[in-house]
Amino acid sequence: MTQTPDAPVKPAEAPSMDLPRLPARRTLLSAGAAALAAATLPAMRAQAQEYGTPYGPSNADSVKRMIQLAELRDGNVVADLGSGNGQIIIAAALSNPKVRGWGVDLQEWLVKTATESAAKQGVSDRAQFFQRNAFDVDLREVDVINMWLFANLTRLLRTKILAEARPGTRVLVNGQLIGTENILGNWQPDLIDRESPNPILKWWVPAKVEGNWTWQLPLGGTPYTYDFVLQQQFQVVEGTGRVGNRRESLSDTRLRGTELSFVFDMTVTGFGRAKHEFIGQVSGDQIRGKVTVSPAEGKPFDLPWTATRAATSGWFRPTGLDLK
Ligand SMILES: C[S@@+](CC[C@H](N)C(=O)[O-])C[C@H]1O[C@@H](n2cnc3c(N)ncnc32)[C@H](O)[C@@H]1O
Repeated sequence: MTQTPDAPVKPAEAPSMDLPRLPARRTLLSAGAAALAAATLPAMRAQAQEYGTPYGPSNADSVKRMIQLAELRDGNVVADLGSGNGQIIIAAALSNPKVRGWGVDLQEWLVKTATESAAKQGVSDRAQFFQRNAFDVDLREVDVINMWLFANLTRLLRTKILAEARPGTRVLVNGQLIGTENILGNWQPDLIDRESPNPILKWWVPAKVEGNWTWQLPLGGTPYTYDFVLQQQFQVVEGTGRVGNRRESLSDTRLRGTELSFVFDMTVTGFGRAKHEFIGQVSGDQIRGKVTVSPAEGKPFDLPWTATRAATSGWFRPTGLDLK
């Protein structure tokens, strides 16, 4: 079985990983050809970039679903890394006159085909195509990234996506033939959609929230300082918080792009036990949103919540013997 050091491959899930180097030009990837290749060709080490994913257009249902899952809004920019005949970018442009996009492909004839198709459908001004390697594009200004490439390539592109794309950028992968596992290594999809005949995987580029955060909340007329320490792997966040001399773990933590929410059920000395439900938008070193405080006794109420990233944290102050 073929294995890469960081991405174990299950042949049944990802048959195309075992394809050998194929001639890049005009190779049509059909289900039959991929299955035959996976079944008959010897396992080879996945040397990623050197194995260009062959061309095959996503089926119409997948394109439609990818556009729906992209949740396009006015002004959005969509990219397709390996754009083939350009259909995804053209469909995005046709879906909203205020959306634009670009695609890149290694193969000149596909770039030409996509450009001509955009012109025929009247969207050349908003759907553009370039002959370029997906590793050589700038992902800083895009809102949506589409890919249907071998998982060895998407895994490599993960490094670029996480380094360049803004938090909140949606990443969509057509799972046809490549399966749903290890597409972006250990970065698990936020969603695996099965509305179309083959799965579509979706990720939101997570905001960076790892570290120390601090804020104040007035409870019962008294200002309390909250010192939190968050730990993060991709979109998975854990954390613990301190108020006064008490500490508690967070629960129900969710990070979707820039939106962070979590629950903190805590006895605040002088106020009493209260469930805190935080939700906010992360923007650099600030989180802004609201908290719903539900005291064990009394009615729930909402407060504005502004958290600030801190170099050091009161969380680590000595506790002493007073556990309150
Ligand atoms: C399976 S097709 C997908 C086409 C299109 N995205 C769609 O879903 O209809 C993959 C395309 O990626 C292109 N490709 C493969 N490796 C690439 C790379 N490193 N940079 C740019 N394009 C690449 C291939 O030439 C091929 O056209």
